[in-house]
Amino acid sequence: MEHNFAKGLENIVALESSITFIDGEKGILEYRGFDIAELADMSYEQVSYMLIYGRLPDRNELKSFSDELKELRTISDSAFNVIRFCNYNIEAMDALRTTISFMSHCDPDLNDNSPEANIRKGMRMIARFPTVVASFSRTKHGMEELEPDPELSHSANFLYMLRGTRPSELEARILETDFILSADHELNPSTFTARTIASTLSDIHSSVIGGLCALKGPLHGGARMAVMEAIDEIGSVDKVENFVIGKVEKHEKLMGFGHRVYKTYDPRAKVYKKLAKEIAEDRGDMLWFDIAERMEEIAYREFVGKKGKPIYPNVDFYSGVVYKYLDIPSKLATAVFAIGRISGWIAHCLEQYSDNRLIRPRAKFVRSEK
Ligand SMILES: CC(C)(COP(=O)(O)OP(=O)(O)OC[C@H]1O[C@@H](n2cnc3c(N)ncnc32)[C@H](O)[C@@H]1OP(=O)(O)O)[C@@H](O)C(=O)NCCC(=O)NCCS
Repeated sequence: MEHNFAKGLENIVALESSITFIDGEKGILEYRGFDIAELADMSYEQVSYMLIYGRLPDRNELKSFSDELKELRTISDSAFNVIRFCNYNIEAMDALRTTISFMSHCDPDLNDNSPEANIRKGMRMIARFPTVVASFSRTKHGMEELEPDPELSHSANFLYMLRGTRPSELEARILETDFILSADHELNPSTFTARTIASTLSDIHSSVIGGLCALKGPLHGGARMAVMEAIDEIGSVDKVENFVIGKVEKHEKLMGFGHRVYKTYDPRAKVYKKLAKEIAEDRGDMLWFDIAERMEEIAYREFVGKKGKPIYPNVDFYSGVVYKYLDIPSKLATAVFAIGRISGWIAHCLEQYSDNRLIRPRAKFVRSEK
């Protein structure tokens, strides 16, 4: 029997999904039929509800969903102890993975894989990811962990728990948009990993932890941290040209550029670019934005000149710039991405469980020399 083969599963359609639509040629991205531009004006709680339940909430539904998330933000003393035992040289992503794994042991719905229990477990993870990441960062820097502030939205509360002071309205709105833009992206590697694990009928915590492990890689969500480090390494606009040309000549990857699906400008990168400019202007310091914009110009020019085709920034490029202006340390970047992505993973796992077929592709066997 003949099998289709595509390295990296490029252009292979593996399953049906009603969550996210992407047109990679035209640069279109929609969650549940809403274009990315409309989504950016919603709240993260609204978008999470819509991803999970398949439709927008009415006012009462949104209020009880948001109130429930607020009530669930606190983590147990034993979870704090796990965070305190982490090695502080690690990325926040590793601490998040370990702590979520520990927290699953104590989850009251541990052995219940019903849709209702999976939504309850999902809500706890959505609510607690920010608490774990902020607490890890504060402990690492020798500061007391903070109690969540129930008066604040999901994004404002995260920045408050991270820094110890309430963020400005602009900062909270920008991080909220970041969480929304990060929330889902069809069968990206971490979501595919989470769905593959769910397809074995393993539990939703295991599926999410698999997603976290995949998101960490530099070819996926880890690119955001690499972008922030590259901007620091470059340091000034006049050094951008040599940096980019050096990467192209050595055939090294330019992090935050290129995409498997988008053959044009990533629609999320367009929104992030506007946010990065807005927050840079607000801070009265354009340096990081100017370095990034120059990187984009030189990369485009070099790729058109040397490879005959352009290259565009992806979701991780200007989001890295935004994080720098929000004073989010680079070692936290992938974990902050995960705070947004968790609601998409939950929605995909629920969809997978609801109409399951084991995900099990084939390998093309290549006989090696004996
Ligand atoms: C995301 C990524 C893995 C997609 O890879 P892909 O699907 O293999 O990309 P393509 O098939 O479009 O690549 C075509 C060519 O462009 C090159 N290319 C793609 N992205 C590149 C990048 N960021 N820097 C340098 N070259 C890149 C490839 O090496 C390849 O070159 P070749 O034709 O000379 O062999 C890749 O773009 C990448 O590694 N980007 C950097 C990491 C990153 O930002 N990841 C986050 C993704 S959202």
